[in-house]
Amino acid sequence: MDWGLKNRISRIIKPQNNRALMLAVDHGYFLGPTEKLENPKKVIAPLLKHCDSLMLTRGVQRMAVPATTETPMVLRVSGGSSIIGEDLSQEDITVSIEDAIRLNASALAMSIFVGSKYEYQTIVNLGKLVSEAERYGIPVLAVTAVGKELGKDARYLSLACRVAAEQGAHIVKTYYCDNFEKVVQSCPVPIIVAGGKKIPERDALQLTYNAIKGGAVGVDMGRNIWQSENPVAMIRAVRYIVHGNANVEQAYQLYKKLVNEKKNNPKQNQNQPNKNNPKQNQNQPNKNNPKQNQNQPNKNNPKQNKTKNQSQPKKNNSNQNNPQNVQK
Ligand code: R5P
Repeated sequence: MDWGLKNRISRIIKPQNNRALMLAVDHGYFLGPTEKLENPKKVIAPLLKHCDSLMLTRGVQRMAVPATTETPMVLRVSGGSSIIGEDLSQEDITVSIEDAIRLNASALAMSIFVGSKYEYQTIVNLGKLVSEAERYGIPVLAVTAVGKELGKDARYLSLACRVAAEQGAHIVKTYYCDNFEKVVQSCPVPIIVAGGKKIPERDALQLTYNAIKGGAVGVDMGRNIWQSENPVAMIRAVRYIVHGNANVEQAYQLYKKLVNEKKNNPKQNQNQPNKNNPKQNQNQPNKNNPKQNQNQPNKNNPKQNKTKNQSQPKKNNSNQNNPQNVQK
């Protein structure tokens, strides 16, 4: 694999633990102003530092993301249909490789619609996109979209993911399903799981946990983060599972703790240190008293950074019980 391709993939799937937390905000490309994503700039700003990568369209990238960000961009380059049109599967490539390079994309994303009316067009487009992107060392994320008439079972999703990988996709995004392990086992490239429509926070954390336990490298989650009443708390809880190896209960407790902190300090921005009252900086390390840094790594004694959880997701690498991996 070429150096550039490897390097870009390593920005999306972290080599330390082979895990990925992608924040999806590309929904407008066919849904228009999706509920709670009406103003992408406002939505993205507080979440950007908590995700490993951001999946979006070029319009949103230029309009809503500061060019100074270090977060890698996964650029959606397919589109052409809308939710009120005739057939959602009728997509084509809508962004040139030159524009993707101008936007410094770390990966390109496009949907394939296996089993739908336009499957041929979308699968051929995937093959062509991989050939073009590889010339410049850019990986391709294939999104296995599901048509109305198709189910989300392991049989269908295995087929769709495998077709994507056979065309050369470097990462495949799909849905979680029963017997998800079967989908992972028959797909030769890393799988990342979409969050799907909004469900209660605990359920979304369970989905994240199950996906990783089933062999996914991570999640590409959108609505279950920014449609939550507490998006920052939610992405941090998801991150705790993906990178901190937390179980569902631990992650949900973190979510509730962050929500309570926000309620008790409504004026305090959870992401910013309070310069006037350091005691309120509960998410920041306390340099004077390391014992108080319960969500922070203890640099002096790494052994103390282990969680007590017994039922951890499958380890892809060492050091995943260490909450230091939770913070970016
Ligand atoms: C769907 O086509 C979009 O690509 C989304 O990025 C994807 O579905 C993930 O977002 P969500 O977690 O809201 O399903």
